[in-house]
Amino acid sequence: MATTSARPESSTTSSWRQSGEEARGASQIGPFDYCPRLGFREYWYPGVWAKQVGRKRPVKVRMLGEDIVLFRGAKGNVVALTDWCPHRGARLSLGECDFEGTVTCPYHGYVFDETGQCVAGLIESVNSPLAPKLRAKNYPTAERNGIVFIWMGMTAPVPLEDDLPWEFLDDSLNTTRHARVRSWETNWTEPTWQGIDYHEFYLHRRTRFWHLIDHKLPFLRPKPIVTNGIKIIDEGENYVACIQRDVEYGQNEYPGLGKWPRRTWWRRLPRAPRKDMGFGVEHTVQLPSIVRVPVGALHLRWSVPVDEWDTRVWSFTISKRPRTPLGQAFEDLWYYTYRLPNQLIAVNEKEDFPVFAKGAINMDIPQKLGTLDVAVIHFRRHLAKKSRDFQRLGGAYGCVKQPPDPVRVAEWTAAGV
Ligand code: FES
Ligand SMILES: [Fe+2]
Repeated sequence: MATTSARPESSTTSSWRQSGEEARGASQIGPFDYCPRLGFREYWYPGVWAKQVGRKRPVKVRMLGEDIVLFRGAKGNVVALTDWCPHRGARLSLGECDFEGTVTCPYHGYVFDETGQCVAGLIESVNSPLAPKLRAKNYPTAERNGIVFIWMGMTAPVPLEDDLPWEFLDDSLNTTRHARVRSWETNWTEPTWQGIDYHEFYLHRRTRFWHLIDHKLPFLRPKPIVTNGIKIIDEGENYVACIQRDVEYGQNEYPGLGKWPRRTWWRRLPRAPRKDMGFGVEHTVQLPSIVRVPVGALHLRWSVPVDEWDTRVWSFTISKRPRTPLGQAFEDLWYYTYRLPNQLIAVNEKEDFPVFAKGAINMDIPQKLGTLDVAVIHFRRHLAKKSRDFQRLGGAYGCVKQPPDPVRVAEWTAAGV
C-alpha cells in the first residue's frame, strides 16, 4: 500500500518536490490531464459580432492558438480563412477586399476566394501559373444571434444548434442584447471551472453580491459562510450541474483560530434560514466552456480560448424578452446601471478574474482537490472525456494524458472531413 509518510523529506527537496508530496493522497486530476491548454477543438465557438465583418476590409480574430481572417462572401456569408497567406506568409487581415467575396493579400496581391483558393495574382500576370497552386485553409462559419460562430475542429462540423447554449434557441429570451466581450489574460479553463467551484463565500465576501444572489431571502440576515462541499445534481452528455451541499449562515468557531467571519454581516436574524434548504443557486457547465449561474437573470459565460494565457470571455445576461418597449427600456436601464457595473465588472472582472489571472495562479504545480472542487474534478475526469474531441478522435490535442488516437484521426482524415 502506498503511503505518504514513508518518504522522508530531505533538506534539499525543492519546493516543486514538496508540492508533489503535498498533493499525494488527494484527488490529483490535473488541469490539463484531459483538458487541452488551447481548448477542445471539435466545437463551434463564438468568433466576433457579425456586424464587425463588413465588405471592404477583412477582420482578424485569434482563437484556439490560430489567427483567422474574416470577410464577407459573395452572398453576404461570413468567410473564415487562416490569416497566413500561403504565398510568403503575410497577414491576409491586413489586406483589402478588392473583389466581391474575396480578400487580397497586402504584400504581392494574390487574391483568395471564399473557399480559400487563390484565384488571381494581380501583379504576376493575368494567367498566373502560381495562383492555382495557392490555397488558404478554410474554416466553416455560421451566423446566429448576431454572432459569427467558427468551427476549428479537424472533423466535420455538427449543426450549430448542437453547440449553442440552449437558451439561444428560445426566441422568448433576450440572449445577446445584454452581452459583454472582454479579453482576460488567463487560461480558458479557469473562468470555466470558476463557474462551478463555489468560491463565493470567501472571494466575494465583501461585495454587494449577496444582495443579488439571495433576493428571495429576507434582507437582513447573516451571510452564508460554509458550503459543506458541493454536490452534483444533474448531468448529461455535455453538461454537469451542481449546488452547495449544506449551507450554513452566520459565524463559525474554528478550533485554535477563533470566529469567522470576524463580524457578522448586518445582524443575525433570530431565525436563520433552514440549514438544509440549500442555497438555491445551481451552477452549470456545458462543454466546451459554457457556464451558467442564475443570479436574478441568467448569467451565461462562454470562454473562448485565444492562447494558453488569453481568453475571450463572452458574458450574456439572459432574461425573458419584455412584452412592451417600456418594459424593454426598464430592463436596459437595469442592466446598464445595476447589473453591468455590479455583477459583471465589480464581481467578475474585479474579484474573480484577478485571482486566476496570468501570474496570479500556478497551473503547473500538483493540485489537491477536495469537496469544494467536486464539480471541477468531475469536469476534469469525466466531462472532458465526453467531449467531441475524445468521442471522435479518442483524445484531445495538447492534453497530458490522452492525446488523439492516430487510428481514429486517420479514419476521420480518410473520410475527407
Ligand atoms: S505573401 Fe501574400 S501575396 Fe505574397
Ligand atoms: Fe465568482
